[in-house]
Amino acid sequence: MLTSDQRQQFVDDGLLVLPEVLPLAEMVSLRSRMAEIVDAFDPDEHRTVFSTTDRDQRRDQRFLESSEKISFFFEEDAVDDDGALTVPMDQAINKVGHAIHDLDPTFDRFSRQPLFAEIAADIGFVEPLLLQSMYIFKQPRIGGEVVWHTDHPFLWTDPPSVVGFWVALEDATLENGCLWALPGHHKRGPKERMRRVEHRPGEIGTRMEVLDTAPFPTDEGVALEVAAGTVVVLDGLLPHWSAPNTSDRSRHAYTLHLIDGKASYAEDNWLQRSPELPLRGF
Ligand code: FE2
Repeated sequence: MLTSDQRQQFVDDGLLVLPEVLPLAEMVSLRSRMAEIVDAFDPDEHRTVFSTTDRDQRRDQRFLESSEKISFFFEEDAVDDDGALTVPMDQAINKVGHAIHDLDPTFDRFSRQPLFAEIAADIGFVEPLLLQSMYIFKQPRIGGEVVWHTDHPFLWTDPPSVVGFWVALEDATLENGCLWALPGHHKRGPKERMRRVEHRPGEIGTRMEVLDTAPFPTDEGVALEVAAGTVVVLDGLLPHWSAPNTSDRSRHAYTLHLIDGKASYAEDNWLQRSPELPLRGF
């Protein structure tokens, strides 16, 4: 799939943009499948009365459980203290994750298509495992910023092996909050590490450990304006960011994160799978 120049570029930059390698029809069918999933979601079913004090704990718990579910995440302030949506669903939803690729047949087929397997093999995966999937909505006018970060700290393996495939389901532009990246900066070490911790007996949450306080040189950021059907391949240590969506057009994207089964996966990563839903490859 990839030329030797492209493989070298990924080594040098930690980034590879593959413009419009997926047919538009496939992007449309993925978007309609997600619209069905959203339609079937009943916010009332998930409404739980919880006080402000245990709100963080509930949020943590929902996040941890999403490792083997199709879970809905909402924009800040779109949910009140009783767990009820304060705005219509299409303005409230931020993303869906993190096991769509294993639980929904349409996303399973899409995620395990030969193109992705070939890219993974070309960039050096020995035993690729599909760890995490996210459908990101970046809604018109309310889609929030995703701050500069790298993915490895959240999906830690030794040696680092995580790679993200970011698929533009719609055109991504400066106006609707396209990705930005710092090509070449994947060669620096991780700045943080998220660990699963027990805050109090029986109360599992996460904690972010700071490893390096130097800020990312964000003025060197490069905007990745891409057309629908484009696949962006991101090294797990490549810093990336996306701005809020201030336009009246959505910016849907689907992301898939792979790790190599040859690397050791940290036991205190937030994302853990039970034996009933083991990680699978392509
Ligand atoms: Fe990311």
